[in-house]
Amino acid sequence: MGTPHNGAEVGEIAKTVLMPGDPLRAKFIAENYLEETTCFNTVRNMFGYTGVYKGKKVSVMGHGMGMPSMGIYSYELYDQYQVEEIIRIGSAGALADDVDVMDIVIAMAASTNSNYASQYMLPGILAPIADYDLLQKAVTVAKEMNCSVKVGNVLSSDTFYTDDETFNDAWKKMHVLAIEMEAAALYYNAARLGKKALCILTISDHLYTHKELSAEERQTGFRQMMEIALKTAVS
Ligand code: HPA
Repeated sequence: MGTPHNGAEVGEIAKTVLMPGDPLRAKFIAENYLEETTCFNTVRNMFGYTGVYKGKKVSVMGHGMGMPSMGIYSYELYDQYQVEEIIRIGSAGALADDVDVMDIVIAMAASTNSNYASQYMLPGILAPIADYDLLQKAVTVAKEMNCSVKVGNVLSSDTFYTDDETFNDAWKKMHVLAIEMEAAALYYNAARLGKKALCILTISDHLYTHKELSAEERQTGFRQMMEIALKTAVS
């Protein structure tokens, strides 16, 4: 049957799904880390795979860029495919002085300038937060791997190119650690549907020092984050 965006049959997707933004990274994880792998989705080339990691069934699927894209894919996984946990693995630009390129940032909460939550018609603001168990496991795993890990607030921005020159300063002032573009949609969907979510990020660039990862460092950083996510998924 599937959905307009996902060709999988119910039962083909594991209860835990890792989601990188780039579907080719989902393919990379499936090919390099999972056993007994099958591909469950090719619609729009948003590749999705199910396999086995350390004896546990795990799926990986791309989520695309921005909150609307993450909103669609994660909603369908939770709502139509009985997925219980989604772990986003992505990159982010650092705002905080004590966050460096290659650091791992785990999003305890995701602030946003998006209008995504207006659909819930809440008489206030709901704080989009990570699942505590997943967060705690990921921090433990990252520390065991001797990664430089920071936990805190991130910003899920609707714009990558932002016209307002005061934008970064305003969020930095609130001690938001880094900017990315999807975590809040994932956390809102998890909140609405009573599911679990976590977002783990590698810092690819610093918005104040202007340091950037080389292509090789990006690969190493991505592998490190992927291993944290996989170990969290099975722990
Ligand atoms: N902004 C938004 N998303 C990002 C950035 C950024 O600076 N760097 C990596 N992902």
